[in-house]
Amino acid sequence: MADSTKTAKLTIDGKDYELPIHSPTAGPEVIDIRKLYAQAGVFTYDPGFTSTASCDSTITYIDGGKGELLHRGYPIDQLAEKSHYLEVCYLLLYGELPSPAQLEDFESRVTNHTMIHEQMMYLFRGYRRDAHPMAIMVGVVGALSAFYHDSTDISDPWQREVASIRMIAKLPTIAAMAYKYSIGQPFVYPRNDLDYASNFLRMCFAVPAADYEVNPILSRAMDRIFTLHADHEQNASTSTVRLASSSGANPFACIAAGIACLWGPAHGGANQACLEMLQEIGTPDRIPEFIARAKDKDDPFRLMGFGHRVYKNFDPRAKVMKQSADEVLDLLGIEDNPTLQVAKELEKAALADPYFTDKKLFPNVDFYSGIILEAMGFPTSMFTPIFALSRTVGWISQWKEMISDPQLKIGRPRQLYHGETLRDYVDIENR
Ligand code: SDX
Repeated sequence: MADSTKTAKLTIDGKDYELPIHSPTAGPEVIDIRKLYAQAGVFTYDPGFTSTASCDSTITYIDGGKGELLHRGYPIDQLAEKSHYLEVCYLLLYGELPSPAQLEDFESRVTNHTMIHEQMMYLFRGYRRDAHPMAIMVGVVGALSAFYHDSTDISDPWQREVASIRMIAKLPTIAAMAYKYSIGQPFVYPRNDLDYASNFLRMCFAVPAADYEVNPILSRAMDRIFTLHADHEQNASTSTVRLASSSGANPFACIAAGIACLWGPAHGGANQACLEMLQEIGTPDRIPEFIARAKDKDDPFRLMGFGHRVYKNFDPRAKVMKQSADEVLDLLGIEDNPTLQVAKELEKAALADPYFTDKKLFPNVDFYSGIILEAMGFPTSMFTPIFALSRTVGWISQWKEMISDPQLKIGRPRQLYHGETLRDYVDIENR
């Protein structure tokens, strides 16, 4: 770790403390406070972790000022245009772009793990048909921990590898099953002769009564959406997976914890909330009313799909998503999509308003994704499950990086305590 001789000096009650500074290959330097409590008897305080690096990682880097997102150094716009999701999975997992032979082997391993244990389908029967698909995903993905005991010994690198492939392969199957269950249609099994995105579309939209031809436009758009959501540094759900995994917990259960966190409307649930907001706005003439609400301190309403903890310029994924929305709707012959119209007008109005530009609030990955997904035929309730299946490779890659770190420690934050100090119990007759 010692990659710099620089130090930071902290003075507390007249006593000086020297804290090491680490120099990254990109991004801010970090002050190493691991010994601070032992040396100075104080904690640092950073709820929401706005200024805290939780780990040392080599996977993904975001430059919020430039609007840059790199996966192992490769920019997201190049990966979205030139690569495809399973190749990006390989890159995130192993650190380099695969050779043709490596890619073929990886895709074959994923393809051959797409089915789930047949008995798992009975788990779906326990849910009401109107259960949110994310509620089903949390439960069924967690249940994988009860079915694949031969890949849960995380001290065994081979079992870590098998668990990784299994989760990347099975999440689309589970997400599609959650969708089918919610609309009362029979489950559709995966097929090995289809690519990853085509397989998912077919599992969602095929029915026994009719053949289903995958539309290559939709398949390419679906694959690109998977790529745009694959990984994103230490976001809330990835941090959840890291913290859960730091205790040595079952990897499948830890991914279920990540799915639970992603569901929130401040995080991955924003894509559903955003489309519902755009539909509620309905027409461009109602945009000023919603902009005013978003700016009103007394109104909890926020523009969904806007703002980001890290991006203080544009979200590069939103730029690609916006281009893709135009292409897909055009190629599908969907003229004048009112929701897309409202989205574009809303973006224009917000970016002309100092409230948003001063606070550096720009469209994020969730602002346009729902428009494409809706055009593809998905209900809004499937937007976050699609985000979850896309992000599984990011959670797994970060999990693998953490679990294989010889310095792994269980995550156990401290606190700033303002509660009662020691006091004696009062018997009820004296209260
Ligand atoms: C994702 O972290 C990641 O990388 C996440 C993600 C990933 O790939 O994993 O990128 C995916 O989660 C994208 C974000 C999706 N969420 C939304 O679109 C929900 C709407 N946006 C927000 O609630 C908010 O912008 C967050 C949660 C995304 C970021 O919140 P922060 O960084 O904690 O910022 P904040 O809540 O402290 O807001 C700063 C100011 C506040 O005003 P002041 O108190 O300073 O006066 O900006 C305001 C906020 O009120 N603000 C908004 C706003 N977002 C922030 N005002 C109106 N509309 C918004 N959307």
